[in-house]
Amino acid sequence: MRIFKANNDNIKLAATLINNGGIVAFPTETVYGLGALASNKNAVKRIYEVKGRPENNPLIVHIYKIEQALSIAKIIPPDAIKLIKKYWPGPLTIIVPYNPSSNISFMARANLDTVALRIPNNPIALKLLKLVNAPLIAPSANTSQHLSPTSADHVKYDLFNKLDNEKDMILDGGDTNIGLESTVIDFTKTNPEILRPGGLSIKLINELIKTSYNLAKINNQRPLSPGLFKKHYSPKATLRLNADFPIEGEAWLGFGKNPKGINNFININLSEEESLEEAAKNLFSMLRHLDKMQVKKIAVKTIPNKDIGIAINDRLYRGASN
Ligand code: TXA
Ligand code: MG
Repeated sequence: MRIFKANNDNIKLAATLINNGGIVAFPTETVYGLGALASNKNAVKRIYEVKGRPENNPLIVHIYKIEQALSIAKIIPPDAIKLIKKYWPGPLTIIVPYNPSSNISFMARANLDTVALRIPNNPIALKLLKLVNAPLIAPSANTSQHLSPTSADHVKYDLFNKLDNEKDMILDGGDTNIGLESTVIDFTKTNPEILRPGGLSIKLINELIKTSYNLAKINNQRPLSPGLFKKHYSPKATLRLNADFPIEGEAWLGFGKNPKGINNFININLSEEESLEEAAKNLFSMLRHLDKMQVKKIAVKTIPNKDIGIAINDRLYRGASN
């Protein structure tokens, strides 16, 4: 598997590989994506295989300009237009009715009559999308159910043996800025519904439009949006949430000032300054770090359930369930 620094020449090479049906892992502002031509059934199929992802879990179509969205969607409701005008490029994915005369492989949509769309806010991703000049599907570049990758190293760790040395590559653009996936909003029903809290906070969204977010909907039976599967985003270690202090055998994942005596335990802090943005950026990489240290149990400090903290808690909650 080849890992290349994301300079201009290598982004060009990545575009060529994608146009030849290959797979390229690339950075977005949220997490690394595993990109392929959305119209290429075989490439899309390989993405599912490489990730070990169930084929009933649809993928996000990545584009670089709103005009592309207008042709892929049958209709984009006014509320969605309002949001994307303000927050694209950005950590926002909209689910809208699919225009059947568009060219997104049915596999990428898991055969649904809806489609997920997003313009990522990362110069490398945007350059790649412009060069390819066609929609790319890009699920997070991790093995299914594992933590999303926030660095090229994470991608390598998960997928090294699964990608082809000639056809595929990883573009290394450093650590991602946000560290959590995009916020997914379903606009196919009467009232917009947040399916996955993410990088764009529900607070900012609700300043523009009215949405609902229903935690109780999470279940393992109904894969309407597989982000709704409860078990997801899992480290190898067991998580104990809302902890005040580790017990014997646990490592500590802190937030805010470290409690006295914490250095008797393996410990790492999401943000000593209590910045939720910093915590979001650190979450997956710190969980991966603790996994690497072969920690078996992690006690996690309470994270305030506001702003991007809602998305952090969503991932922790899913990571803790089994
Ligand atoms: O930040 C992100 O969104 C990253 C970067 C790479 O862009 N991508 C990402 O993709 O997180 P993925 O495949 O790991 O998550 C996509 C989520 C899944 O929960 C999937 O079920 C949901 O979007 N989804 C995709 N199409 C859908 C549809 N038509 N209806 C409902 N949910 C959909
Ligand atoms: Mg994912």
